[in-house]
Amino acid sequence: MCGIVGYIGPKDAYPILIKGLQRLEYRGYDSAGVALIDSDLKLYKNYGKVADLEEYVKGKDLAGNIGIAHTRWATHGEPNQVNAHPHFSQDKRLALIHNGIIENYSSLREELIKRGHKFESETDTEVLVHLIEDVKKNENVDLVEAVRIALNMVIGAYAIALVSVDNPDLLIAARKGSPLVIGIGEGEFFLASDATPLVEYTKNVVYLDEEEIAIIPRNGNLEIKTIKNKKKTPYVETLELNLSALEKGGYDHFMLKEIYEQPTSIKDSMRGRLDIDKGTVKLGGIIDYEEKMAKAKRIIMVACGTSWHAALVGEYLFEDIARIPVEVEYGSEFRYRNPIINEDDIVIAISQSGETADTLAAIRMAKEKGATIIGVCNVVGSSIARETHAGVYTHAGPEIGVASTKAFTAQVTVLSLMALRIASLKGNIKKSRFRQLLIEMETIPEKVEETLKLADEILDFSKIFTYSRNFLYLGRGYNFPVALEGALKLKEISYIHAEGYPAAEMKHGPIALIDKEMPVVVIATKKGAYEKVLSNIEEIKARKGRIIAVVTKGDTEVKKLADFMVEIPETEEMFVPLLATIPLQFLAYHIAVRRDCEVDMPRNLAKSVTVE
Ligand code: M6R
Repeated sequence: MCGIVGYIGPKDAYPILIKGLQRLEYRGYDSAGVALIDSDLKLYKNYGKVADLEEYVKGKDLAGNIGIAHTRWATHGEPNQVNAHPHFSQDKRLALIHNGIIENYSSLREELIKRGHKFESETDTEVLVHLIEDVKKNENVDLVEAVRIALNMVIGAYAIALVSVDNPDLLIAARKGSPLVIGIGEGEFFLASDATPLVEYTKNVVYLDEEEIAIIPRNGNLEIKTIKNKKKTPYVETLELNLSALEKGGYDHFMLKEIYEQPTSIKDSMRGRLDIDKGTVKLGGIIDYEEKMAKAKRIIMVACGTSWHAALVGEYLFEDIARIPVEVEYGSEFRYRNPIINEDDIVIAISQSGETADTLAAIRMAKEKGATIIGVCNVVGSSIARETHAGVYTHAGPEIGVASTKAFTAQVTVLSLMALRIASLKGNIKKSRFRQLLIEMETIPEKVEETLKLADEILDFSKIFTYSRNFLYLGRGYNFPVALEGALKLKEISYIHAEGYPAAEMKHGPIALIDKEMPVVVIATKKGAYEKVLSNIEEIKARKGRIIAVVTKGDTEVKKLADFMVEIPETEEMFVPLLATIPLQFLAYHIAVRRDCEVDMPRNLAKSVTVE
């Protein structure tokens, strides 16, 4: 949520900042702003997208080789120009941008008002910059110390960047709960919420840790200290990001590009891990913990959104082949529920961004209670990846579209590998069967490629549903999470109300909704509870619902009943989600495009949810 960019060095800051905002726009896009310093401090902000800011600043003075910029996802105060970041201090000599929530902002605001401060916006961020100013004046300390003292007074989460017209050679940044990365160039520094704006300038980065303040000078070395005033040595890491992964590459939308990348992202998530010749699965990231995982009495999977759906597939996988009981938890519920956690529990945190606040808080709590925490993250160096005991990266590459696609299938791939590895360690799967599964798994990228060829067929019939107001998605077993994920995709990007259900639950309520207007997407692949799902389809048909079925290639039974049908390649039941999800991604995408929706930046959403 919210994107932060900063620059200090010899170059013009504005073009670097704007480009950075464009890269980070997926994090929030209700307003944007920039602050630049040369002889004075200039601040421009506007309601809307980064493009609206660009329009707004045309013809204005954009000189300056230090600056900060922000793209917002509103928390406090509606999205408008006044609430957009950066925010000025009272004397307009400081400008601050912020990602996160200052929970005690209201009491701080009242206190500052008593001391003569006047606020223009409704934001918690403006309170923070006034607080820094107030501390600096009243405690008579320098700017860095004022920031440090102020941060000790706030409760909540923040990633901030601050510039001062009185210190034009200094950029200050700090984080707690929201990510920040510093890029180290030749005589210049860059700052961003994630590495995507930095990669074209430098590969050398420092990830700021919790409660750390970065003191970034124009000339000289980066300094880091904690808010408790402990000096830290910056640890420089090398980025392994490819610039082309951040471009649309000829596709109309990042989402479409990412759907098409799935054969590669799944292959990359298996690469070097699945070895058919040796008949093994090797997951280097969890090697020291796999015995413990194999002995676990239960596994708890925590996640949010699409990653939670991947966790549900994980539950089926681990229970089915590794025979370990699994509980799947929403990070947000788990963290506030006083759950029973034992020291022999394994908690698997699944997150594309690795920054989701609720998932992060859940693992911190479980870690404190003694559980072993394993991460399944996509973003290298992200907070969850850093705070887990061990983990396996998904290697999906950067996912820019707000609606998750390739990250989901990569998560399911990694969870499949984990379940297979633990199953083989426990010895509860026959060698021949294990090998058979590995051989099948290796064919999945090809089968995904084949599934992608359904795009035109889906485009064709999706037209009929452009103006539908509701959708039902049904599936059983491994296909139940697929139904949930299909429904989430549709509602996220097309704003059509959609619900996913276990197919058999339909008769316990949702069946009342079915009439000739109701499209029902049924995932009815062979194996599992196929016959039962077939009966569910009959029940829908009897009530004149319009059936869109995802079936196994060659199916003849569903054909008799379905209005529209897409046939996916046959595979082992445990790998079906990797294929069955794809037609549902296309369906959501094509409907959203026809409805003229902003596919990559759906309203009210942000890619990385770093607030509660
Ligand atoms: O980065 P994470 O995987 O932790 O994000 C979790 C959810 O916020 C995310 O999956 C969200 O539901 C997506 N918009 C789904 O498309």
